[in-house]
Amino acid sequence: MGVSVKKIAVFASGRGSNYEAIQQQIDKGKIKAQTVCVISEHASPPVFEKAKSRNIPTHFINRKQFKNGDEYVAELIQILAGYDTDYILLAGYLKLIPAPLVKAYENRMINIHPALLPNFGGKGFYGMNVHRAVVESGVSVTGITIHFVNEKYDQGNVILQKEVSVHADDTPEEVAAKVLQLEHRYFPEVVRLLCEDKIKILNNKVIIEDE
Ligand code: GRF
Repeated sequence: MGVSVKKIAVFASGRGSNYEAIQQQIDKGKIKAQTVCVISEHASPPVFEKAKSRNIPTHFINRKQFKNGDEYVAELIQILAGYDTDYILLAGYLKLIPAPLVKAYENRMINIHPALLPNFGGKGFYGMNVHRAVVESGVSVTGITIHFVNEKYDQGNVILQKEVSVHADDTPEEVAAKVLQLEHRYFPEVVRLLCEDKIKILNNKVIIEDE
C-alpha cells in the first residue's frame, strides 16, 4: 500500500529559507506532500513571495485582526480544516501557537529550533539571540532540534538533534550560518519521514522507522 500525499501547512514569519528547502524537495517529488498554504502573522513577508511564485495560497493572520483570542484561533483552525491539513510545520514562526490549535494538531505539528534544546530555548530565544547566547556562553557545540509542538514553548518531544562545533573565535553570524546549513539538510529529511508515516510516538518517546 502506497503512502498518500500529505497536506502540509507552513507557518513562517520571515525569510523562509527552511520553507524553500522543504518546498524544493516536495517539487522534486522526494517528499510525498503538498503544501496547502503558508500562514504568517505579517502582511507580506519574503516567505509569501516564495509560496506565491508556486501558486501556493498565503494567509496573513494576526491576533490583532480579531476581537478576541477565540475568534483568532477559530479562524486559524477553519483555514487549516478547509485544506484538510495533515501536518503543520513551524519554519521560523515567531508567535506562540494558541493552545486549542496545539491540541487540534497534537503530534501533527513540528518546529525547528536553531540550538540543542533544552539549552538556549524558550521565551526570547529566537533568531540571532540564540546564536549570540551560544557564543557568549562559551559552549563548544550547538546544533538544531526538530521537535513536536506541545503547549510548552520549545518543550515537545524531540524528533531529531544534530550537532555542529562552535570554535573559540566563531562570531554569532558564523554560528548561525553553520546551523542554517544543518537546518536545510535535516528539516526536509524529517518532513519526508513524517509524510511517509515513519515517525511514531510510543510511550511518549519518538521512534523513527527508516528503511
Ligand atoms: C531558523 O533558524 C529556525 O530554526 C528558526 O527560525 C529561523 C527561520 O529561518 N525557528 P528561515 O525563515 O527559514 O530562513
